[in-house]
Amino acid sequence: MSEALGTDKLEREAKSTYRDVAESADAEFHFETGRDLAVRLGHDADELDYVPDAAIDSFAGVGYDFDLAELEPGEDVLDLGSGSRMDAFVAGLHVTETGAVTGIDMTTEQVEKTNDLAADNGFHNLTFREGYIEVLPFEDASFDAVISNGVINLSAEKLTVFEEANRVLKPGGRSALSDIISEQRLPESIKSDAGLWAACIGGAEQIDSYTTFIEAAGFSVTEVRETERYELISERAANACDKYGVKSVSLGATK
Ligand SMILES: C[S@@+](CC[C@H](N)C(=O)[O-])C[C@H]1O[C@@H](n2cnc3c(N)ncnc32)[C@H](O)[C@@H]1O
Repeated sequence: MSEALGTDKLEREAKSTYRDVAESADAEFHFETGRDLAVRLGHDADELDYVPDAAIDSFAGVGYDFDLAELEPGEDVLDLGSGSRMDAFVAGLHVTETGAVTGIDMTTEQVEKTNDLAADNGFHNLTFREGYIEVLPFEDASFDAVISNGVINLSAEKLTVFEEANRVLKPGGRSALSDIISEQRLPESIKSDAGLWAACIGGAEQIDSYTTFIEAAGFSVTEVRETERYELISERAANACDKYGVKSVSLGATK
């Protein structure tokens, strides 16, 4: 994290951005949102027909990793930074009614009413909680899989996030993540820009450091692949991507 940006400021900026995404997904952001993005990244359009529009409209993920997650009926899944809830709903379809999906997100507006949205749409296997991915409110070894889409770059404590993910996974459990990384070290001018941090750019680690954190937390990384079809759209964001190689990857890891 930039010296100039305290974690409180980062958190305020990220919450404000994702409150806006939750409340007015049509507004302009540095990034795309919604169904077209989800399908372009790899989601099955027919499967999305089973997911409530309210969740799809505010989807702000950066990749597709359900093929890496390989969720099975009956499994317990945790979605870190569940935000729009779209991935949690898709995970709910994959684990079926015999499994369960828990989403956790720090932005109140992303979590409010979500439990009703799930139940009202016949998803009795989804639960959403407000909280921080750095201090997960779950027992050790609670989940078969941890998924996360476009979130961990926003944390100034990435090693802690991966340690927590590892702690709550059962032995042999797996993680499938999509996130933003950068090829080059980002300059202070970008790292200290709270808006670019909240847009998933300022906090992007280089892939080597990112995987080092994951492995230091106790995971073995099984696959890293670049997401060709994700682009940040505002001019400032796109410039930073071109200049420093900011891009999206999906990554699989096992405990
Ligand atoms: C880019 S959005 C992605 C949301 C969701 N995964 C999706 O695909 O739509 C990032 C989300 O991460 C949440 N978030 C960021 N930092 C967090 C943290 N430290 N703890 C919990 N949630 C966090 C934000 O509130 C926001 O909802």
